[in-house]
Amino acid sequence: MTLRRGVVVLTGAGVSADSGVATFRGPGGLWEGHRLEEVATPEAWARDPVLVWRFYQERRARLSTVQPNDAHRALVRLERRVRDADGLFTLVTQNVDDLHERAGSRELLHMHGELTRLRCERCDYGREDRASVDPDAFLPCPECGHERLRPDIVWFGEVPFHLPAIDRAMAACTHFLAIGTSGVVYPAAGLLMLAREAGARTWVNSLEAPDNLHPDDTFLPGRAADVVPGLVEELCADWGLG
Ligand code: APR
Repeated sequence: MTLRRGVVVLTGAGVSADSGVATFRGPGGLWEGHRLEEVATPEAWARDPVLVWRFYQERRARLSTVQPNDAHRALVRLERRVRDADGLFTLVTQNVDDLHERAGSRELLHMHGELTRLRCERCDYGREDRASVDPDAFLPCPECGHERLRPDIVWFGEVPFHLPAIDRAMAACTHFLAIGTSGVVYPAAGLLMLAREAGARTWVNSLEAPDNLHPDDTFLPGRAADVVPGLVEELCADWGLG
């Protein structure tokens, strides 16, 4: 059968929380003991690259200690079933961990970058690198010789990645799911409204109601690992996907 659906899923830190990865916002507004502006801005990198590098190297090292959870796996099932029925599926994640791809997601856009990648800030060199996690050793650029590669992360004040591809997915979106995101960081937070205003049906899962929630959204409170598998089964049953 052919499915006339454009499914877009936006995930945030909450989807990885059930795998033991810390979320960004919470009591006190501190992120693993740091204010965001101390470690997640280009100014911080210019001012104190040792602190910023150590912070990201520790997060890169921790990737190998966490595993995808039932929410990541359910989204893989949704993607496979939608695509098998010739529907369109795009997973847009704000997360910089690699849990979606390790679970098996294929049509995946990391709009805030990836911990598993490093890039040069002088030339356009970039590479996948999971192995170099020494918190005290900068890595020089093998292309231009610049003294230090940076994490391939979109910091505050920088332009998110993949915006044209996200626009294309949103233009075809009939069903939109926002999972585990507080809805405060734009442009990601604006996608829910864009989808709603274009007439898509919208579902939101989070522990508490996010800032951008609207009465027309179907809000499913709870842990993503508990809620998302059931939602996926329900959608697939509604759409007649086995
Ligand atoms: N299941 C579902 N949702 C959860 C869970 C869970 N187990 N645990 C927490 N949440 C929800 C919280 O209720 C909150 O709404 O996940 C959300 C996490 O919000 P943030 O920490 O703000 O994460 P996110 O929305 O992804 O942050 C956006 O901010 O700092 C930047 O670039 C960074 O990509 C990040 C962006």
